[in-house]
Amino acid sequence: MNPLPIVQTQIPPDVIDLGLGNPPLSLLPLDLIRDSAQQALSQNDNSILQYGVEQGNGYFRAALANFLSDGYGFSVNPENLFITTGISNGLDLICSFFTKAGDTILVEEPSYFLALRIFADHGLNVVSVATDENGLVPASLEEKLAGSPPKFLYLIPTFQNPTGYTLTQERREQIVRLAEKHNFLIVADEVYQLLNYSEQPPKPFGAFVESENVISLGSFSKILAPGLRLGWMQAHANIINRFANSGLMDSGGGLNPFTSAILRGVIESGGLKSNIGKLKSQYANQIAVMDEALRRHLPEAKYEVPHGGYFFWLQFPDQMDIGALRKQAGAFNVDFRQGALFSSSGGLKNYMRLCFVYYEADKIEEGIRRLRELYLSKRSFTAAYTSTMP
Ligand SMILES: Cc1ncc(COP(=O)(O)O)c(C=O)c1O
Repeated sequence: MNPLPIVQTQIPPDVIDLGLGNPPLSLLPLDLIRDSAQQALSQNDNSILQYGVEQGNGYFRAALANFLSDGYGFSVNPENLFITTGISNGLDLICSFFTKAGDTILVEEPSYFLALRIFADHGLNVVSVATDENGLVPASLEEKLAGSPPKFLYLIPTFQNPTGYTLTQERREQIVRLAEKHNFLIVADEVYQLLNYSEQPPKPFGAFVESENVISLGSFSKILAPGLRLGWMQAHANIINRFANSGLMDSGGGLNPFTSAILRGVIESGGLKSNIGKLKSQYANQIAVMDEALRRHLPEAKYEVPHGGYFFWLQFPDQMDIGALRKQAGAFNVDFRQGALFSSSGGLKNYMRLCFVYYEADKIEEGIRRLRELYLSKRSFTAAYTSTMP
């Protein structure tokens, strides 16, 4: 173990970890950030080092609103934006402001496992709602609404983590109607909304923020760089004001004003848009490579080819325990995430999540080949490498 770790993920050099949900180092745009930082720092404008405006710098929110209006296909108002340090931070703030320990919230089954960790930190009672290839199933939601209403419903509507599935427009409208009728919040995690490789997805829940029951969360982590720790919340002004007028913002000022000043330049120069274009063309190629390798090496796995986001979601025969298989993966120098990690009801044991963005074609191909060997092995091993990631 490295005594002075410098990044969150340390993968032993021989291991191909197809489970990681990070962008590759090679696609983190150092030049873009350097140019914009140099520009921001050569203005002789000391205000970028001052406490920031509680809601987020006005010029930055205006630039972000223009960018989102273009990407989302409808007009986004800067007054409906609140700057966060990423979606994880947005989720934590929502839990702090809208819930107390013991409250019930609803999540999709399966859901993003690290969001489940944040909800656990707040002592929330998590109840799962069924999903299918068209996203969350409204009939299952209605069933769960029979008792007292949950505080909020957390969902990842577009290119979901882990399934890659997208919620249909019709279901989005149905879910908003149910939220208004039963008076609960919809917390839509739209982290992959702008990463579509083939189909254009339906408009994000940000399109519904005239309703006080909807909060849409966005982030620069997957479209630019996660180390920037910057994201946004889009919601009705009454909700935004609640966050902006909090003691936390009063004391500390707005979140991450210095990074916001740098990113304003990246957005206004068109650098963010061209970066997304570059990511999309590389990731689209990698999807094709992973699909081809899976067909060749793992015909037992059933899946839909994703149209966006980061992940393939593989279903294996019912009797397969993918968590048990992972315990042997170290001996084959390969890794992945087992479906059970994403279940809040102890299910999905025969599922596996693979990420297609982190490795280039040759490593993807080799990783899937190693998975094949692991899958075929009937032996039991003492793992030489046990992933440090959950
Ligand atoms: C669905 C989902 N939400 C949130 C995050 C984390 O976002 P952020 O870096 O903005 O906190 C991720 C990262 O993998 C994710 O997949």
